[in-house]
Amino acid sequence: MQQPQRRSRTFADFLPRSPEDIPQAYAWFEQMRSNQPVFRAEQMPIWQVFRYEDVQEVITDYNRFSSDATFGDSFLANTLVTTDPPDHRKLRNLVNQAFTPRAVARLSDRVTQTTQELIDAVKATGKMDVVSDIAFPLPAKIIAEMLGVPAEDWDIFRRWARFGGGENEASRERAEGSARDMRQEMNNYFLRLLEARRKDPREDLITSLSNAEIDGERLSKQELVNFCFLLLAAGQETTKNLIANAILCLTDHPDSLARLQREPALMPTAIEEVLRYLPPVWFLFRRTTQDVELGGQHIPADQMILAWTASANRDVAQFPEPDRFNIERAPNRHFAFGHGIHFCVGAPLARLEAKVVLPMMLEQLKDLKRVEGVPIEISTGIVFVIRNLPVAFQPA
Ligand code: HEM
Repeated sequence: MQQPQRRSRTFADFLPRSPEDIPQAYAWFEQMRSNQPVFRAEQMPIWQVFRYEDVQEVITDYNRFSSDATFGDSFLANTLVTTDPPDHRKLRNLVNQAFTPRAVARLSDRVTQTTQELIDAVKATGKMDVVSDIAFPLPAKIIAEMLGVPAEDWDIFRRWARFGGGENEASRERAEGSARDMRQEMNNYFLRLLEARRKDPREDLITSLSNAEIDGERLSKQELVNFCFLLLAAGQETTKNLIANAILCLTDHPDSLARLQREPALMPTAIEEVLRYLPPVWFLFRRTTQDVELGGQHIPADQMILAWTASANRDVAQFPEPDRFNIERAPNRHFAFGHGIHFCVGAPLARLEAKVVLPMMLEQLKDLKRVEGVPIEISTGIVFVIRNLPVAFQPA
């Protein structure tokens, strides 16, 4: 990545492609927070917002900043995340029950067991790719189980799961235009599964969603299928990157890694610090419903707003020493899971998975370090995706 210059370049120029690019992206955020905190580039009809306070306003004030702001036929269109009140509340109530901290705590044993199987598969070799060996399969398996995808369908499911973004194969397939076919295939699969659960209910999310009623009405079949897509897409790539980002941050800060091994009780604040310092989601979209004033700028109605939550997370006005990775930071009111009515429904699950997998890795994989000389590929869109993260440790 080249040296950031102000104006005339699009934000894509500043997004990291490798770990070495990350500091420059944050340096650009800092520059923008100081000089152009609410910014519209000439060539782009999008307003970018960088400061904590402004980002908070944009992602929270749903009357002036609508979430119905996706482009084209994105998989997010017409789902909970792009719905405004009053419909938002009705849909949200449906999933809330499935994701209460208590409901999620019940999954703890399954998360531990799955993690142990994944660690056992690589433990003796002394090396692994954190992304493909742990960070990808763990959240994917857990969300598949929660939804109620039968174990024998795991392989097909695994292929679709990649379609949510991230892996090379998926990008190629998408480039070749097969994404639409895959979506159709997923659509049919979930429609069949819904039918099956209506006839033969089980204790899974698909059964409870298909039986749930909103104001005496059930969701249509298509709405239910969209919900399944949303949970897959929103829940998997993000959690995968929380795990990978944590290992990236900790191997970059060996003192913090050693401290966590000595004092595992610091894990919850360490995970929050990873979420702030290197979040899986870098920005959120909204659309203005009316003329607004923000950060001294006048923004007309019906404009797209890109709120840089990753930048807000490093705003010195909110976080002392924002560029320091501090595993004891408290308070830590980051926006990694958003804020307000759209606050991430899956946050308790993502936190649980991180709280299980990271201590198990640190305890069982001694001398964990990055493998030198292998380039680590990153792609950043809404989600900051680490494609590979090879590490070495003492074989057990
Ligand atoms: C570390 C992991 C995760 C991160 C960083 C993350 C991030 C986010 C963010 C920033 C939002 C707010 C979107 C907005 O305001 O427009 C959100 C919403 C959402 N997330 Fe997550 N998420 C994670 C894990 C999960 C998981 C595991 C699930 C489900 C299995 C999930 C499901 C959802 C859903 C359904 C919404 C929409 C909520 C609403 O609109 O009311 N997320 N997530």
